[in-house]
Amino acid sequence: MKTIKVNYKPTEKQKLFHKCGADEVLYGGAAGGGKSIALVMDALDYALRYPNSNIVLFRRTYPELEESLIQNALKFYPREIYTYNESKKVMKLINGSRILFRYMEKKNDETRYQGAEFQYIGFDELTHFSKKQYEFLKSRLRGSSKQPKYIRATANPDPRRPINNQWIKEYFVEFAPPYKIGKDKQGRTRCYIPANVYDNPYLMENDPDYIKRLESLPELEKQAFLYGNWDIKLEGLVYDNFDPKIHIKEKEIKPIYHRIAGLDFGATNPTAVVFIAFDGWHYLVYDEIYSPNILLDDLAKMVKERNPRQIYADPSGKGLIRELQRKGLSVSKADNDVLAGIMTVKQLLQDKRLFISEKCENLLFEIQNYVWDKEKEKPLKAFDHALDALRYAIHTFHNPKRKGLENKISAGIKEDYIDWY
Ligand SMILES: Nc1ncnc2c1ncn2[C@@H]1O[C@H](COP(=O)(O)OP(=O)(O)O)[C@@H](O)[C@H]1O
Ligand SMILES: [Mg+2]
Repeated sequence: MKTIKVNYKPTEKQKLFHKCGADEVLYGGAAGGGKSIALVMDALDYALRYPNSNIVLFRRTYPELEESLIQNALKFYPREIYTYNESKKVMKLINGSRILFRYMEKKNDETRYQGAEFQYIGFDELTHFSKKQYEFLKSRLRGSSKQPKYIRATANPDPRRPINNQWIKEYFVEFAPPYKIGKDKQGRTRCYIPANVYDNPYLMENDPDYIKRLESLPELEKQAFLYGNWDIKLEGLVYDNFDPKIHIKEKEIKPIYHRIAGLDFGATNPTAVVFIAFDGWHYLVYDEIYSPNILLDDLAKMVKERNPRQIYADPSGKGLIRELQRKGLSVSKADNDVLAGIMTVKQLLQDKRLFISEKCENLLFEIQNYVWDKEKEKPLKAFDHALDALRYAIHTFHNPKRKGLENKISAGIKEDYIDWY
């Protein structure tokens, strides 16, 4: 038997990941915990153990795939055991196994694998993938030989992707205690192996500043990226009744819906615009613009393309409002009563009347990061750009003081509300 020398020494946590015999394993935790490299090496181990295997490794986007998985494979796989077809992104091993490097950037990209069969499927940064994509690929796990069929994934919690966080947390993190293998009703096994940066001596040695950078992140990101904490929720949240499971929703915007927008001007801060559809009762934030240093011409063009009937803007930006009006936009000054505005938004969340599309990444991030400044009895001025825009539009439109515009519009729309829940 031929021995092959592999120049890879797994850390203690990586060893646990490689040794785990569950059908599906998540190697989770912080950024820099040595996840990508562990996944790539785990796939190689499997490929060599079981000749003629068909293996696929996924990352969400092509540049990330190249940078994380392919680069690691080219660096750490012994040169004499594979040939690599760069255009097809396939590695052929000397024992007949194949490792495919793939990305799934768009919705429904998973259906490209309809007829495929794999014995080992790897996902790097699973929070970038939907449960639907995962389940679809899982159904491609097959083959006539007796060898085990594995899924191996890596992830750290990601405050910008609450929906994917949630399914991964339920599916892996809460399924069984860490390091313990749990079994589902069909008898398939799953395990979660947590890891964080401090478990990676290579990084501690080569780039100690990396950890300092993680330590200086805003609290929520620090919790996620440094400690790998899946229960990321802040103390003292302003919108503490926001629940990703309830309030993130996708809906078709029908032509009868009334479309409004909220606008918060920024110079060095981002300028934020949120676009809201109102069906007579519910509000759906369906799109956003979030950009620092944007030129007024470009802003006007982008807002026009989305065609809102009325735009409620930061009242302190008088000159800018006038400029936008001159460019043909229907902009007016918003009611900027901060506390009253927050109460309006909170109440609409509570009543399940306000929803946000997953597309609005920045708004979703802010709503989960916006906290009270306890001493001053008002919110901290951070993570508030898209939220201010939201508050301007919702509060001004909803507020009866503003001649009951909501009621007037609502009377003109006849919508069947049942399908919102
Ligand atoms: N066992 C190992 N041997 C050599 N280098 C390692 C090992 N584990 C991690 N590293 C190095 O640590 C750094 C972070 O690892 P990486 O896999 O990119 O982490 P993550 O995917 O969790 O962010 C990389 O530079 C990687 O090469
Ligand atoms: Mg990585």
